[in-house]
Amino acid sequence: MAIIDKALAGRVALVTGASRGIGRGIAVALGRRGAKVIINYASREDAARECAAEVEAAGGQAAIAGFDVANSAAVTEAIKAIGKDHGGLDILVNNAGVAVNGMLMRFTDEAWAKTMNTNLAGAFHCLRAASMLILKAKDAGRIINITSVVGEQGNGGQLAYSASKAGLIGMTMTTARELASRGVTCNAVSPGFIETDMTAEHLPEAARAKLMEQIPLGRIGRSEDVANAVAFLAGPEASYITGQVLRVNGGMLM
Ligand SMILES: NC(=O)c1ccc[n+]([C@@H]2O[C@H](COP(=O)([O-])OP(=O)(O)OC[C@H]3O[C@@H](n4cnc5c(N)ncnc54)[C@H](OP(=O)(O)O)[C@@H]3O)[C@@H](O)[C@H]2O)c1
Repeated sequence: MAIIDKALAGRVALVTGASRGIGRGIAVALGRRGAKVIINYASREDAARECAAEVEAAGGQAAIAGFDVANSAAVTEAIKAIGKDHGGLDILVNNAGVAVNGMLMRFTDEAWAKTMNTNLAGAFHCLRAASMLILKAKDAGRIINITSVVGEQGNGGQLAYSASKAGLIGMTMTTARELASRGVTCNAVSPGFIETDMTAEHLPEAARAKLMEQIPLGRIGRSEDVANAVAFLAGPEASYITGQVLRVNGGMLM
């Protein structure tokens, strides 16, 4: 295994939706680089505790924080407490997301609201609550939003999901422009199809085989593939990169 330096030692990072899947991979990757990682979850405290143990085993420090990113007041309160308890916040990764699927003509208001409130408003709530802390970060702060290939090219049956992920790209560029004068960077990472509970739930075997034909690198991605890109953007070597969308998709969209 490659030697990884502790480039994030002394940094405090909040990763939303880090109890499982890609978020968990990101938490471990940041911990491995020496960060103190605050692991957010919605309901699976058990999974969040497992993630904390993994972060610590990788050499980082960890704490857990349960809150629903869709709940504006809960986010404000939780992030204020994180700043107080951990002496600030240097890195925010907006990863929490849901995929509520359905075709356009039958798409319900509830499915629309659930998706947008979690994926898009959730990221906004966290950005707004964290921005003041991130502006005060010792070294320049970092924000990374997890969008999707589906936000860049659409996908039948994922109306609200694609809209939320496309919206996140706009929000990334605006945030990058607003915070750049203080050295804070804001970028998006856009995964293709990654093996997690989300894809296990929404990707039947036939669709999976068809999908493989569209991925030049010939495999579905792993959480670590995304996590390594996030860790790079969170680190000192990415200080001149802002407002960008970094694709981690095996070549399925170029
Ligand atoms: N998997 C893919 O192929 C893929 C591709 C492109 C982009 N993405 C994006 O990557 C992100 C992670 O996806 P994933 O596949 O890892 O999903 P996942 O396996 O379903 O995990 C979702 C995570 O988000 C948390 N979460 C859900 N709703 C939340 C809320 N309202 N407040 C706080 N946390 C919440 C869950 O917490 P609990 O454990 O408590 O439920 C869990 O930790 C999402 O934004 C997704 O859209 C995924």
